Amino acid sequence: MADRYLTLTATAPGRFLTRRLGLPQPTRLRRWSPDSPGLGGESLLLTTSDSPYAQDLLTLLESMGNKPTTTTPLAPTAVVLDATTVATTDALAEVHAKLHPVVRKVKDNGRIVVLGAPLNPADHHQSAVQQALEGFVRSLAKELGRGRTACLVRVPGPIGTAESTLRFLLSPKSAYVTGQVIETGPAEAVAAPTDWSRPLAGRTALVTGAARGIGEAVAEILTRDGAKVTVLDIPSAQQDLARVAARLGGTALPLDITAPDAGERITAALPEHGLDILVHNAGITRDRKLANMDAARWSSVLDVNLAAVLTTTDTLLKTGTIRPGGRIVATASIAGIAGNAGQTNYAAGKAGIIGMVHSLAPRALAEHGVTVNAVAPGFIETRMTAAVPPLIREAGRRMNSLAQGGLPVDVAEATSWLAQGGMNAQTIRVCGQSLLGA
Ligand code: NAI
Repeated sequence: MADRYLTLTATAPGRFLTRRLGLPQPTRLRRWSPDSPGLGGESLLLTTSDSPYAQDLLTLLESMGNKPTTTTPLAPTAVVLDATTVATTDALAEVHAKLHPVVRKVKDNGRIVVLGAPLNPADHHQSAVQQALEGFVRSLAKELGRGRTACLVRVPGPIGTAESTLRFLLSPKSAYVTGQVIETGPAEAVAAPTDWSRPLAGRTALVTGAARGIGEAVAEILTRDGAKVTVLDIPSAQQDLARVAARLGGTALPLDITAPDAGERITAALPEHGLDILVHNAGITRDRKLANMDAARWSSVLDVNLAAVLTTTDTLLKTGTIRPGGRIVATASIAGIAGNAGQTNYAAGKAGIIGMVHSLAPRALAEHGVTVNAVAPGFIETRMTAAVPPLIREAGRRMNSLAQGGLPVDVAEATSWLAQGGMNAQTIRVCGQSLLGA
């Protein structure tokens, strides 16, 4: 459904009127396109006095085509600040001193990435100050406006473990990801592709719920990034599913994911060498307040959104269908973080996904060499949200730092980034820093 308000504020009279009325001022987000794959312009690298990564970061940003400089350009499209060694309140003042003079200069749709370190449980000063970076970056993301984003990336080891994350955040692919804290590594979760323009080349992927909406976009982006995709959806969506498979040169697998033997049927349908990427995207809503919710509404949502994810994951890991080096990306929701009136069933299922990721990820990596992460979309413009009553829909669109809804492609870009590896046990919100559950 078209966002007419965003179209209005893109015009000069619309901007004038909405500014006079004190209404939100969304900036049309710049997304990836083959003609414009990068942020363009120059990026600014800022380091604190004892920064260990200054040279490595310069080399990395250079290799990414981000034209790094250490002296402030007139209008940087990106700013990267290495705050990994910041461990005292005095050092924290350096973070303010570095960013304060440049923040206004960052271009529309620009990026600020602060690099931090994991909290050290043996050092409460380091923990306090590194946690302070979280509040700082989340606040900055709320202040920036004009389609600009800010994220904190905690890097536990060599800066190379953050490469796929930096490539994602410092590109138009991360347009709707802001105010997030992301921990990269461990080293076993990282695998650098030979060609960053097709990072999933040679990989096989399965996307559930891919006949339309976000799942279709995920299948499309995974294909763009080089994967051979099998798309799965319920048999009644077979026609749409076949259309998606044909368009992407993939394979259609009509199957209800809640079937007791779904895992075995997926294994049987895949090429002999198995699966590298499993995206659990299929999901349904059956909203009612708990007082009006019968058992069928409760269980239909929990069956699709959680039970089927758990059982198919178990089967595909146990049978070795997901190969070592494999990636599982599940789809949560900010409703699973914040809760939502009328969605006790849906929010329970989506919170369950986050719990699964948290518990399974370290074991799946240790025992199978497979990473497990999740995306948690906010308000995304799909058929699901088009069915929301107009006033609630309008509030959902505007109640985030970018003052607009996301697009299916935003979730798809984040899913593809997680499917490349580089992190484990993360739930990444793709929500424009929604106020819900923030
Ligand atoms: P959608 O309703 O457009 O697409 C969901 C797809 O899943 C449909 O094609 C449907 O046929 C399929 N599906 C449902 N039950 C299935 C089953 N038993 N077996 C196989 N396939 C099944 O939904 P949308 O908006 O694309 O959402 C995709 C995912 O993102 C869902 O998990 C949803 O909960 C999640 N999400 C969506 C948000 C939004 O704003 N649209 C926000 C947060 C999360």
